[in-house]
Amino acid sequence: MRGAGRSAGARGVKRPPAAATTAAAAMALLHSRRLLAAPRLAAAASRASSWWSHVEMGPPDPILGVTEAYKRDTNSKKMNLGVGAYRDDNGKPYVLNCVRKAEAMIASKKMDKEYLPIGGLADFTRASAELALGENSEAFKSGRYVTVQGISGTGSLRIGANFLQRFFKASRDVYLPKPSWGNHTPIFRDAGMQLQAYRYYDPKTCSLDFSGAMDDISKIPEKSIILLHACAHNPTGVDPRQEQWKELAATVKKRNLLVYFDMAYQGFASGDINRDAWAVRYFIEQGINIVLSQSFAKNMGLYGERAGAFTVICSDPDEAKRVESQLKILIRPMYSNPPVNGARIASMILNTPDLRKEWLIEVKGMADRIISMRTQLVSNLKKEGSSHNWQHITDQIGMFCFTGLKPEQVERLIKEFSVYMTKDGRISVAGVTSGNVGYLAHAIHQVTK
Ligand SMILES: Cc1ncc(COP(=O)(O)O)c(C=O)c1O
Repeated sequence: MRGAGRSAGARGVKRPPAAATTAAAAMALLHSRRLLAAPRLAAAASRASSWWSHVEMGPPDPILGVTEAYKRDTNSKKMNLGVGAYRDDNGKPYVLNCVRKAEAMIASKKMDKEYLPIGGLADFTRASAELALGENSEAFKSGRYVTVQGISGTGSLRIGANFLQRFFKASRDVYLPKPSWGNHTPIFRDAGMQLQAYRYYDPKTCSLDFSGAMDDISKIPEKSIILLHACAHNPTGVDPRQEQWKELAATVKKRNLLVYFDMAYQGFASGDINRDAWAVRYFIEQGINIVLSQSFAKNMGLYGERAGAFTVICSDPDEAKRVESQLKILIRPMYSNPPVNGARIASMILNTPDLRKEWLIEVKGMADRIISMRTQLVSNLKKEGSSHNWQHITDQIGMFCFTGLKPEQVERLIKEFSVYMTKDGRISVAGVTSGNVGYLAHAIHQVTK
């Protein structure tokens, strides 16, 4: 605005002719100054009266900040271990073959682009629920559940948070594991819920603080909400074992807590979709009517397609119908109806036997590559001569590893070795390849010896 005003003024004002009187020249000069000054004054005035002058600069997203710094780095050995997206063994983004095939099948059908129903694509939501609950699940077969499509895991969590805010009258309190995925807090807080925490991770052992968790959970006020990561806990990579899940389920039942499972990595943790859904299915079998968010970002590599689902297990099909009606009422003013493409792809894969088979192999391939990188990192650390106990790297599971590195060590890794990660020492193992695992081990050894 300023630049435009200036040049218009400069172009628009003619110099007085040489023969003009002094007074006329002075008037013209004054006039030209006014013309020049006017746009500036207007801009200043509009700034002063802006609606948004009180808006302060917010902090950058911590994970995207890591990526920005990585992009600026010119070191050819640089590694970005901050971002939670799968990379192949060449460090490249990976599109699953089953996804490419599903896309081709969808394209050949020349489908329309009409709006989906408010609750999403029915073939997708049914298949999504079946994937999580299991085809033999009593809750699934009897229809005492409702699943709506969400905008990937985040959007599904937000539907869930808003649903709890509106209909869970017993409590506002949502108990998160300490630590939890960074977005859980703002998702629930922005939906009007209150955040509490229970002990989960023990930094001394880089593993689960099970007794701390049980101690805290057994004291959570009855009828509160507890959030559990179904598998591949983010950011720690630490999951309870099956016997521990059983104890957890018993305590949760005794305290009469509403369980919110976040399952963003089904299949991606162990390579087996059934094993990764074990806790979700066990809790339901114990008569715990959970709510659940799912994401297809990681296990199908559909990150930007935003395919996800939110499920409520109800006491009977009639209750499920009533809950569904209210979920639709909640979703309608948020975004009317969800995007169609990702749901079509996921649905095509889940509902086409050959594609589903191929997907199960591919998801196992991704999980296995990550597991193998964990093993290779530890053996390379040993080769470097590190005397630390790095067993937690192979004990942890999923995309992320909580290395136990201190913030000063992380800073050195970034500055001296161009190895980027979040300050809490979390690395995305998906960013490690057989080509750079040796360099990573060397760098870690240098800052920890
Ligand atoms: C624990 C957890 N929940 C949910 C999500 C949601 O991801 P998206 O919205 O990309 O599906 C993530 C992604 O990192 C996650 O780690």
